Amino acid sequence: MTILVTGVAGFIGAAVAGALLEAGQTVIGLDDRSGPSMPALVEQRLAALRMFPRFRYLDLDITEAGAPVAIAALAPERVIHLAARTGVRDSRHDPGRYLSTNVGGFGAVLEACRLAGCPRIVYASSSSVYGDGSAGPGNMGVPLNVYAATKQADERIAAGYAASFGLHITGLRFFTVYGPKGRPDMAIWQFVEAMLEGRPMLLHGEGRMTRDFTWIDDVVECVIRVLDLPHTKPGSADVYDVGMGAPVALTTVVSLLEASLGVRADVRLVAGPAGEMADTRANPEPLRAVIGYAPSTPPGQGMPIFAAWLRGWRAATFA
Ligand SMILES: NC(=O)c1ccc[n+]([C@@H]2O[C@H](COP(=O)([O-])OP(=O)(O)OC[C@H]3O[C@@H](n4cnc5c(N)ncnc54)[C@H](O)[C@@H]3O)[C@@H](O)[C@H]2O)c1
Repeated sequence: MTILVTGVAGFIGAAVAGALLEAGQTVIGLDDRSGPSMPALVEQRLAALRMFPRFRYLDLDITEAGAPVAIAALAPERVIHLAARTGVRDSRHDPGRYLSTNVGGFGAVLEACRLAGCPRIVYASSSSVYGDGSAGPGNMGVPLNVYAATKQADERIAAGYAASFGLHITGLRFFTVYGPKGRPDMAIWQFVEAMLEGRPMLLHGEGRMTRDFTWIDDVVECVIRVLDLPHTKPGSADVYDVGMGAPVALTTVVSLLEASLGVRADVRLVAGPAGEMADTRANPEPLRAVIGYAPSTPPGQGMPIFAAWLRGWRAATFA
């Protein structure tokens, strides 16, 4: 089976593609290498995938006018769409690019699936769709930023495409994914860097923010199991949380990283930032009901592995 993974040079895309290749699948990876990771990290992710003969890489910007036709020509049998402009804070600075990539680019990928007759699509939504939490568990709230609005739009567009063209499209609302080869723009990467360099680090929300952290291997397992679900629901656009449902305070994360690295953090508690959720909490049960699995790696287990990996990676990369 040929599976297209968009965003393959990114954190989650590279991990998903690697697991699919390990399982013997044929993977076409698509990216334009415009993400927040530094070139050395992007190259390492792609180099690991290029070790597999059944991997092919296509450098393509999904917002280009010809993208739907170019993607359809690849004739994928399954699509895992992870390409996006990521990062909540940056969406304040460059909202237009978030709209064109996350909404227009998502539309281009769905259009390619329609043209190619690819019936099964899994795409990344986000915990951000819960916004201010006003709509209650499971439902989208008022978006707190443009990034969240683009992911909400994707869920609506997916429903429209599924209903109109008989596609089976599943959205996965990821909750703060972390692990080796992760994203340098994410808070825990920056916490570890600050600790290793002895710099002060800012803890937003006066340290009271909580996040439902999700270990990368658990996310990969969920994506692959969802993709493998029998094609029983043409015309449906289901959406699931991918998270443990066990949020931790950022102060707890800092303590775990301190213990892992054996250093003391110079923490500065600050307010805000505006436009970000104070707390996130996944409901893992709906996903568990359909795939028999939900994320289970607690931060106490994952944080030390991540901290050790990043320390080693920095030593090897900047030696
Ligand atoms: N990491 C998380 O905690 C998290 C949480 C919620 C949702 N998500 C979603 O999961 C998906 C993957 O996230 P990630 O953490 O791997 O992010 P990432 O930034 O590492 O990967 C995204 C990839 O998309 C690529 N891309 C961006 N614009 C493109 C374009 N126009 N054409 C082709 N490729 C393009 C980037 O180059 C990058 O490699 C995204 O959709 C993201 O919004 C991630």
